[in-house]
Amino acid sequence: MNIPKHVAIIMDGNGRWATKRGLNRSMGHLEGSKTLEKIAVHAIDMGVKVLSVYAFSTDNFKRSEEEVNYLMNLFIKMFKTKLEKLNKKGIKVIISGRKNNLRADVIEAINNIEEKTKDNKNGILNICLNYGGQEEIIDGAIKLAQDINNGLDITNFKRADFYKYMYHELPPIDLLIRTGGELRVSNFMLYEMSYAEFYFTNTFFPDFDKSEFNKALFIYDDRNRRFGGLDAENI
Ligand code: FPP
Repeated sequence: MNIPKHVAIIMDGNGRWATKRGLNRSMGHLEGSKTLEKIAVHAIDMGVKVLSVYAFSTDNFKRSEEEVNYLMNLFIKMFKTKLEKLNKKGIKVIISGRKNNLRADVIEAINNIEEKTKDNKNGILNICLNYGGQEEIIDGAIKLAQDINNGLDITNFKRADFYKYMYHELPPIDLLIRTGGELRVSNFMLYEMSYAEFYFTNTFFPDFDKSEFNKALFIYDDRNRRFGGLDAENI
């Protein structure tokens, strides 16, 4: 079976999962965080090398103060406790996004989990927090401009070379999964997903379990990736 090296998940539907049960939206995020832990371990067990997840977009600050605070506190709690399990599994945790307008205690928790897991070799969990895909490209372009100012020769600069200007130098996304029924990419990892296969499901993220993840892998395995070229039989 052809296992994707880099899988990305837009973890949508937490709020609706909770509302459907008469619960506060935040309970959906709490349940989603438990799902994330299970899916991250499972993905790496299945041979995926990098799992990127959309935990909080730059636009999510438009949500109520109560919801934003709940999420920030949940991230801290996850980074301090739950992710220890990922550490034991040898998973390296990295965070992608802008740090400038995050609370000091969130930044401290980010630095702590990144430091604690930095030597792990079994796989990478890339948590996108205060993240925007266009923002990542802008921030990368600024860094590249600085390098050009410092004398970098860009005569033969290729699209593959731009990956080192992303928040972390990760491989391109092979498979993008979006839960929760919406059919859009919502400013997620735009540069990295240029040739990704898309898998959309109506399942709300808290209900997205190992068998659902495996279904996405099977569908990916059946896809014919041509990267703009032709099938072998048509050449
Ligand atoms: C989108 O669902 C989900 C989020 C904005 C938050 C995702 C966060 C988690 C799953 C917790 C992860 C925890 C860590 C440590 C990274 P939504 O709220 O937009 O759902 P809706 O579309 O039903 O309203």
